[in-house]
Amino acid sequence: MLILEKLWNIIKNEINNSNNIEILDSIKIKYLGKNGIFNHYIKNLKSFSFEEKKKYNIIINIIKKKTISKINVKKIEINKNILTQRIDKEKIDISLPGRQIQKGSIHPIHHSINCIQNFFYKLGFQSLNGLEIEDEYHNFDALNIPKNHPARDTHDTFWLDKNRLLRTQTSTMQIRIMKSKKPPMRFIFPGKVYRNDYDATHTPMFHQVEGLIVEKNINFSHLKWIIYNFIYHFFNKKVLLRFRPSYFPFTTPSAEVDMMTDSTKWLEILGCGMVHPLVLKNVNIDSKIYSACAFGLGVERITMLRYGISDLRSFFENDVRFIKQFKYI
Ligand code: DAH
Repeated sequence: MLILEKLWNIIKNEINNSNNIEILDSIKIKYLGKNGIFNHYIKNLKSFSFEEKKKYNIIINIIKKKTISKINVKKIEINKNILTQRIDKEKIDISLPGRQIQKGSIHPIHHSINCIQNFFYKLGFQSLNGLEIEDEYHNFDALNIPKNHPARDTHDTFWLDKNRLLRTQTSTMQIRIMKSKKPPMRFIFPGKVYRNDYDATHTPMFHQVEGLIVEKNINFSHLKWIIYNFIYHFFNKKVLLRFRPSYFPFTTPSAEVDMMTDSTKWLEILGCGMVHPLVLKNVNIDSKIYSACAFGLGVERITMLRYGISDLRSFFENDVRFIKQFKYI
């Protein structure tokens, strides 16, 4: 009996002193394994009397059970220690210097629209975005572009169904605003327009800014003054402009405005004119009392000219290296 008590004390010490799972496993094999010490003891009981054998066997089994449960408890303790050590190591070190956060920058198209708005706000204009999904009436019919009119073919329209489409021009907003508001009014409508076209100077989505003034005595010279001054403001210098007579179904007279580029070539930048009496009639404005002028400009076109960008597609390729080049003051 004494011997078994001593054995239990030894096992207890060994388990208490072990500090990793591998050692515990080896203790388990050493005592509880097939050739382990407990089996060895049991074998040695052969020469004992039946009563004694029984007594010893009971005690050996108790020690065996105690050994197993002590090993298990120790294992749990070791695993818990490993975990707390790991968690301690993973603590956030708040004394570390922060990581650098990269600053974003405004997309050049967005910046141009901001710049356009700032100019027109000063002249008492309001700015409205409007719908991108439009219907045939607002995109064509009400703007005096009836079905089978050749101007429709030039628009490469994305049709959604028989009646709905992605607007091909911001001129749609002329109709919407004149129908919903009483003159006088001064509005600009910046936003996305869509045409099914793709090459270095065309993308299926691009931006326009439409302008509209409806007042009692507005005339073409006002329109010219505004356009000249807007262009000077946008390019921050005096540039050469020419008004070239043109045709748009919703304005008469109509003009296209060309700008002299750095390479001394004329480049078209916008369309404009006096709103056609038929359009005013469509929106119930009496053209004997009110006159209206309008213009529509391509935002990408003037932004390309401002920064000397040659391929329109680079605006929409999402390459941060392109965007990063633009530093605005
Ligand atoms: N909507 C025309 C286009 O997309 C541009 C335009 C021309 C707008 C003349 C106007 C205008 O308001 O008067 O080609």
